[in-house]
Amino acid sequence: MKDLKNEKILAAKEAVKYLSTGQIVGLGSGSSAYIAIAEIGELVKNGLDIKGVPTSEKTRELAESLNIPLLKIEDVDSIDITIDGADEFTADLQLIKGGGSFLLKEKVVASLSKQEIIITDSTKKVEFLGKFTVPVEVIPYAQNYVLAQIKKLNGTGKIREVDGKPLITEQGNVLIDGDFGLIQDPAGLADQLTRIVGVVEHGLFINIATRVIMGVGDSTESFTK
Ligand code: 5RP
Repeated sequence: MKDLKNEKILAAKEAVKYLSTGQIVGLGSGSSAYIAIAEIGELVKNGLDIKGVPTSEKTRELAESLNIPLLKIEDVDSIDITIDGADEFTADLQLIKGGGSFLLKEKVVASLSKQEIIITDSTKKVEFLGKFTVPVEVIPYAQNYVLAQIKKLNGTGKIREVDGKPLITEQGNVLIDGDFGLIQDPAGLADQLTRIVGVVEHGLFINIATRVIMGVGDSTESFTK
């Protein structure tokens, strides 16, 4: 049986090798990113001088507990390198993210980043994106309209719930998990979703990742363009 936790640890250990003193580092969200943040905490303890930019409140709390110095997103023009996770990726580095509901901040941080390193276990690599649903962050006022527009794109959408109530993101929005079947043209779908009024952002990360490091068994595999 696969040891997915160990695969994430191996990927995280490999990813932090790209860090160096003086960098501004984007800190992702999700179980893989949290492992990387723990590794970064150790490196900081041993003298690595970096400043982190968190992608969620949970990440901020974790980083603070590990004494990783942090910057606010408002105070940075550019981020040297971000380490984050993904729900699915293809060999040409297109991603679905947002399983943990933090896709909006994750995409802002990724967009500011010169390098976006994604770390995963070996279950996340797919030939076509779409087995995992595409999270779409929507202002609550527009949720029914967006659900109808998703139908017009031959998809189905479901408002994500926690304990029977709509999940509210850190930005006060709702998430629609969109099922579009296997996605033949992720860039095209990303454009269509972006054009729907009321959509704030979606979890298709197109041409954003610069490297994916996937743990496989006892080693790692690296994907770049
Ligand atoms: C959170 C994300 C995560 O990076 C993604 O869900 C992967 O999580 P994990 O590392 O726990 O598998 O996009 O919004």
